[in-house]
Amino acid sequence: MDKIIIEGGRPLQGSITVSGSKNAALPILVSSLLTDGMSEYENVPQLRDIQSTIDLLMHLGARVSRRAGRVCIDAGGLDSHEAPYDLVRKMRASILVLGPLLARLKRARVSLPGGCAIGARPINLHLKGMERLGATIELKHGYVEARTKQLRGAEIYFDVATVGGTENLMMAACLAEGQTILRNAAREPEITALAEILNAMGADVQGAGSSVITINGVETLKPAGATIIPDRIEAGTFMVAAALAGGDIRVENCEPEHLGASINKLRLTGAEVNVGSQSIQVCSQGRLNGVDIKTQPFPGFPTDMQAQFMVLMTIAKGQSLISETIFENRFIHVSELKRMGADITINGNAAMVRGVTKLSGAPVMATDLRASASLVLAGLVAEGTTEISRIYHLDRGYEALEEKFFKLGAAIKRVKE
Ligand code: EPU
Repeated sequence: MDKIIIEGGRPLQGSITVSGSKNAALPILVSSLLTDGMSEYENVPQLRDIQSTIDLLMHLGARVSRRAGRVCIDAGGLDSHEAPYDLVRKMRASILVLGPLLARLKRARVSLPGGCAIGARPINLHLKGMERLGATIELKHGYVEARTKQLRGAEIYFDVATVGGTENLMMAACLAEGQTILRNAAREPEITALAEILNAMGADVQGAGSSVITINGVETLKPAGATIIPDRIEAGTFMVAAALAGGDIRVENCEPEHLGASINKLRLTGAEVNVGSQSIQVCSQGRLNGVDIKTQPFPGFPTDMQAQFMVLMTIAKGQSLISETIFENRFIHVSELKRMGADITINGNAAMVRGVTKLSGAPVMATDLRASASLVLAGLVAEGTTEISRIYHLDRGYEALEEKFFKLGAAIKRVKE
């Protein structure tokens, strides 16, 4: 297993190019199951979660070729309706094949994803929605077994705005008979990106990006191509790095409209943030101010940026209250940050962070992607050496993270453990 070693304290300077978005690419690759021709995608990031998705699509009978950021998928030969435990346990987003399989093959057998380091993460809203569309669902031997004679449009109200649930139902509804209305739908940019590709495939999806999405079912979809949108969480992670380590970073190939909440909070800390049309420059000198943060569905402050902002707060002036409202256990990074000298108290879903003047390097590890990213950020600013183990979590969601930081002037390297 690899680990990352960082000598902290170097200011960061220069520019980085943001990769394609993991969370946009995953449902888009899965949407290729809705057609029987060749779909082509560009700017697909090279990540473990993408490879897990490709493995699953191939298991289902799709032919997939991949060259750098280009992925071609032909699901013409789709001949299995089963997503086995071994593939689903590697990546929870595998549940997204449920909707397309039901729509295309009228049946699906998908392993239940099980627990997750950041929370229970149930899929009840995906299943209830499929039932509303006319599927019969049974849970047997750890699997979701779903069948339908024909999916039919329905009105579906989500108790909680769910990103994956909205994506799954949107894909299923495209091939359902009649109209589906999704209420309290998630509004994340990844939903809009999926709706755009579905419409390019011949679907009729209206309202994506708002909380009411209307889908008029069509009989068939044709393959289409898409360029994956930039990863807003990767962009945000580098923006925080600039504020934290001091320096001047230009984050290129990003979509500032997707980053409003992070830009706003960074400005409140006192960092200078200059927004271009497809780039964001962040400069900072000296100690920043603590700010309070509450995670919310988009366009609120993203839970996927909470751990990174918390690192910034550990060395900011004053106290900051960080409330996590999306996942019940997303403070995995706190105990590791405390080992690096941070002063943090957790009370339920809130963390009180009292700024200290410095962090000190230590051996650390984390069991979640964004928590691992926060430890890299902490290592960049800590005094001395930080060794981060279990970095396969980082490889699930950040393309060449250490290379990008090295280019910006960080003393960071990956070594075999
Ligand atoms: N929820 C339910 N029932 C459901 C589905 C969700 O109660 O059937 C709850 C969840 O437990 C959670 C809330 O609804 O409390 C929101 O969960 P959501 O379904 O929106 O999350 P997700 O689709 O599983 C995606 C991202 C996550 C990101 C969340 C929130 C992908 C592949 N994953 O997860 O990304 O944190 O939305 O924005 O898109 C990450 O990239 O590190 C990551 C975890």
